[in-house]
Amino acid sequence: MCLSVIQTIILTEEDMKLESNRKRVSHALRASKLVVFPTETVYGIGANALSPIASKLIYQTKGRPSDNPLIVHIAHKEDVYKYIESASDAAVKLMHAFWPGPLTLIFKKNDVIPLETTGGLETIAIRLPRNDIARQIIIDSNLPIAAPSANLSGKPSSTAFKHVMEDFMGKVDIMIDGGQSEIGLESTVIDTTTIVPIILRPGFVTQAMIESVLGYSITDQSSTGPSGEVKSPGMKYTHYKPKGEVMIIDGSIEHMAAYVKDAEIKHPDKSIAVICEVEYIHDFTCKVRSLGSLNDQNEMANNLFSALRDMDEWGIDIIFIHHISTHGLGYAMMNRLIKASGYYIINV
Ligand code: TXA
Ligand code: MG
Repeated sequence: MCLSVIQTIILTEEDMKLESNRKRVSHALRASKLVVFPTETVYGIGANALSPIASKLIYQTKGRPSDNPLIVHIAHKEDVYKYIESASDAAVKLMHAFWPGPLTLIFKKNDVIPLETTGGLETIAIRLPRNDIARQIIIDSNLPIAAPSANLSGKPSSTAFKHVMEDFMGKVDIMIDGGQSEIGLESTVIDTTTIVPIILRPGFVTQAMIESVLGYSITDQSSTGPSGEVKSPGMKYTHYKPKGEVMIIDGSIEHMAAYVKDAEIKHPDKSIAVICEVEYIHDFTCKVRSLGSLNDQNEMANNLFSALRDMDEWGIDIIFIHHISTHGLGYAMMNRLIKASGYYIINV
């Protein structure tokens, strides 16, 4: 289907203090239109989760496969019970510990939310964001808001307003500029429909944080390879990919530098770049994009998707990414980088 060009209205955080602008947003959402808005994780492209037409429009506008379900965003914890059959004890504990915040929980759905929103699944992903604008638009519209990350399907998620402009200018009714995303990685996704909860996507809320709330160990099924069976539809699609070829280099920085130098000699006609921690930027002779300091995982997470998007802006053909430490938030970062590389890891 061919989507016509829309006159996109841009609103700033300041604009959102005016009731007239807030009304514009809720009218658009109530009319099954699309609104791009900030959350504390990444930007979302939102629409009325109760409307099959609105959900279909999200899929069409993102170019997203229609079996990859959307996350439903709510503004009050108790609203979760409007859309689900039941919540396990673990789900209730996690809701109270981490909502509002970067955690998405999967429940058995009831019939209120249409199957178009859940990609045909009988389960539903729900999240209560802590970003003020996100919560405000949910409260003002009095609707549950279905919102995947605001990026064209396959591209890195958007953590800066210029990214959503690149992807959705002229394609959505309203875009709200909330500045740089606070966290920069999408929410942790946990399936709570099983006896023991399962991590489907790692994020800012780590396995250790979840286990300390629950008091027992849970499993992680987020790292299934490209051909393996997947628990979450989103896991089977290519993600976060710049146009150039991406390789993760695992080994000492000296060995990586030698490997990259060799590639520069072998491919003089190709544009080559490295993504690595700031401590290593002087180890390379090609273009380098810093992720930030080894000692500041929050800074690195915040830079990750921008770094991947910069590779396209710089016109890079071959991208070498330094394997980062997987402790804490590093595990979620490596999950995204491995997908961006199409599971291409080289040990040097
Ligand atoms: O931080 C975030 O979660 C952002 C912001 C905008 O809230 N949203 C986001 O949505 O990342 P999206 O659609 O890009 O990723 C949602 C992930 C997908 O991998 C999808 O397959 C999975 O959640 N998911 C959604 N509903 C599911 C369900 N019922 N069962 C299993 N996985 C589900
Ligand atoms: Mg996404």
